Amino acid sequence: ASEPYDCVIIGGGPGGYVAAIKAAQHGLKTACIEKRGSLGGTCLNVGCIPSKSLLNNSHKYHEAQHDFAKRGIDVPEVKLNLPNMLKAKEQSVTSLTKGIEFLFKQNKVDYIKGTGSFVSPTKIAVSLNEGGETEVDAKNVIIATGSEVAPFPGGGIEIDEEQIVSSTGALELKKVPEKLVVIGGGVIGLELGSVWSRLGAEVTVVEFLGGIGGAGIDEEIAKQFQRILAKQGIKFKLNTKVTGAEKREGKVYIKTEGSKGGKEEELEADVVLVSVGRRPVTTGLNLEKIGVEVDNRGRIVIDDQFNTSVKNIKCIGDVTFGPMLAHKAEEEGIAAVEYIKTGHGHVNYHAIPSVVYTYPEVAWVGKTEQELKAAGVKYAVGKFPFSANSRAKTNLDTEGQVKMITENETDKLLGVHIIGPNAGEMIAEAVLAIEYGASAEDVARTTHAHPTLSEAFKEAAMAAYDKPIHC
Ligand code: FAD
Ligand code: NAI
Repeated sequence: ASEPYDCVIIGGGPGGYVAAIKAAQHGLKTACIEKRGSLGGTCLNVGCIPSKSLLNNSHKYHEAQHDFAKRGIDVPEVKLNLPNMLKAKEQSVTSLTKGIEFLFKQNKVDYIKGTGSFVSPTKIAVSLNEGGETEVDAKNVIIATGSEVAPFPGGGIEIDEEQIVSSTGALELKKVPEKLVVIGGGVIGLELGSVWSRLGAEVTVVEFLGGIGGAGIDEEIAKQFQRILAKQGIKFKLNTKVTGAEKREGKVYIKTEGSKGGKEEELEADVVLVSVGRRPVTTGLNLEKIGVEVDNRGRIVIDDQFNTSVKNIKCIGDVTFGPMLAHKAEEEGIAAVEYIKTGHGHVNYHAIPSVVYTYPEVAWVGKTEQELKAAGVKYAVGKFPFSANSRAKTNLDTEGQVKMITENETDKLLGVHIIGPNAGEMIAEAVLAIEYGASAEDVARTTHAHPTLSEAFKEAAMAAYDKPIHC
């Protein structure tokens, strides 16, 4: 038999592929098992990357149609070429997934194309994509099998990926639907709802809760976000639950009622997007046989060093606890490998940013105001609107604000919530500030280039501990 691997990773998504590269960089003999046929997982193949391609290009199309004239750019006729927009999306996906294959080669990670299943804690059977089976021996295993679309709870709405789609189908609709109903006003619903709305669909978002944006969003920002999206033409039905769907004469009819009972309604749709969350993937891994514990939500149980209940098997990413985000999975991938190699690793779960890539973007890190209120923490809030920021005004792009929440006693940043142009890039500064325990005064006394949007971040810090200049 061949030498056992020091580290075998099951799953080649952002968690798994990053762990594999890091392990190899640390000199561990490493293999990564991936069944999809391409690397990058959900994120690169059917998640982050294709959705951001469509968000970027649909935004440009929308701008060309509705925004260029006021900037002195007259375009005679703007036409959508959907097949080419989808092609551009495919190109970004392929170049990135192939890029990871290249990085595997460069770092000497063995890429095993197939489905992994435990025979024992140190032996994994792989059913190969090209046919046949193989077995690999591993001193350490990292499970990084990710997540998949959660079906509509209680059944009754079957995803066919054409008329009733998940995010995967919504990334490749062949034509712009006249009416799109989105079930779930979380991140996927708002991002992909925005894409098709900009391309011409009439979009209605049905959300069970009283606010949009999914878990962790600041309530004040969520309200402002909803107002802005509504102005763009997206309709919202909040506090409303979907109870079923019926296909009739080429349409889908969605039945809804109030979250707490009450008024029943029927919504007509050409396409329905089901975006009510995702669930961990563990099927076929044979976890019961080797004794890896799974909780009642299907997540693999780990301790604070990514150890599962079986010695030598670690787990990271969407398939275990925490937010289902690519950068969270990546950080865990690196930390898990560091634990294997050195016994030490680090992920700061208080400083993981969230970004919704709509227009404007919404980004946050740390605590929300409602969380701090509930915990009885004494805090100060500094706000700065983009309408008072010189660069935003120059760009005729003034919607949104930076909201900074600090601890009264120490002036330390507890949470930052940004809605506005480029919020997803700007939040990095807030993450760094929180990671290093900065105070609002520290941020406010740091020079920010003029004229930039990031001055709004500095002025929100000034507002939190003293007074801003421009507002
Ligand atoms: P995954 O990416 O799901 O990868 C797991 C891999 O394991 C898969 O490729 C799967 O084929 C493979 N696998 C599973 N079982 C086996 C097995 N037995 N053998 C071999 N291989 C197996 N996150 C962000 O941070 N930013 C975004 O902008 C963003 N946008 C998103 C948009 C959409 C539409 C969706 C659906 C998700 C988005 N996400 C985003 C979430 C992000 O995709 C996930 O958090 C991330 O992919 C999780 O990484 P992972 O490595 O844990 O799992
Ligand atoms: P989500 O958890 O963000 O939102 C689901 C929404 O559906 C919630 O607001 C929930 O209240 C609502 N809902 C649930 N059942 C419902 C029902 N029966 N009727 C009406 N509404 C209902 O999940 P989503 O949007 O599917 O995304 C899954 C995950 O993917 C996210 O949690 C996120 O981690 C990740 N993701 C991240 C992105 C990013 O970082 N930009 C982009 C897209 C996805």
